[in-house]
Amino acid sequence: MTREEVLDSIKANVENENLIKHMLATEAIMRALAKRLGEDEEEWGLTGLLHDIDMELTGGDMSSHSKLGADLARELGASETMAHAILCHNEAHGVPLETKLDKALFCADPLTGLIVAAALVRPDKKLAGLEAKSVIKRFKEKSFAAGANREQIARCSELGLEFGEFIELGLEAMKGIAADLGL
Ligand SMILES: [Fe+2]
Repeated sequence: MTREEVLDSIKANVENENLIKHMLATEAIMRALAKRLGEDEEEWGLTGLLHDIDMELTGGDMSSHSKLGADLARELGASETMAHAILCHNEAHGVPLETKLDKALFCADPLTGLIVAAALVRPDKKLAGLEAKSVIKRFKEKSFAAGANREQIARCSELGLEFGEFIELGLEAMKGIAADLGL
């Protein structure tokens, strides 16, 4: 499974540009996490890229979201490890996080939304000048980007990462693809 094949499948199944950007941002954070933790960057990156591929197909039905996604990922050639991470990133199925890949996707997913929201309230609406300490400040404001699940982000500790380091890593990863994100 190549990144190009994954992108083609995403284009065939997802129309919403913001959803595609979210998947690209998740990919970037997952690649950075894999690099930091000495894991397979391609495997982790493609898992992040694929994770919400079924969001429009399932119409937001949380009882099927990520089950279909895991099946689509398998059809594209994803490993069982990747499919499992995609399946359990949706807590609705009650499938426990087991592998490091499961845990990484689970905490990276909501971090993208927090960082995007923190960039968009800046006067220039850009990632370039955004600092990790500002993102951490926003994290503590519970009403700010309330959809970005704080408990889920904080579970980066299960990867052995300090919270501040995780935020910094995620922010730098997203800055690296700022143009693709339109930020
Ligand atoms: Fe997601």
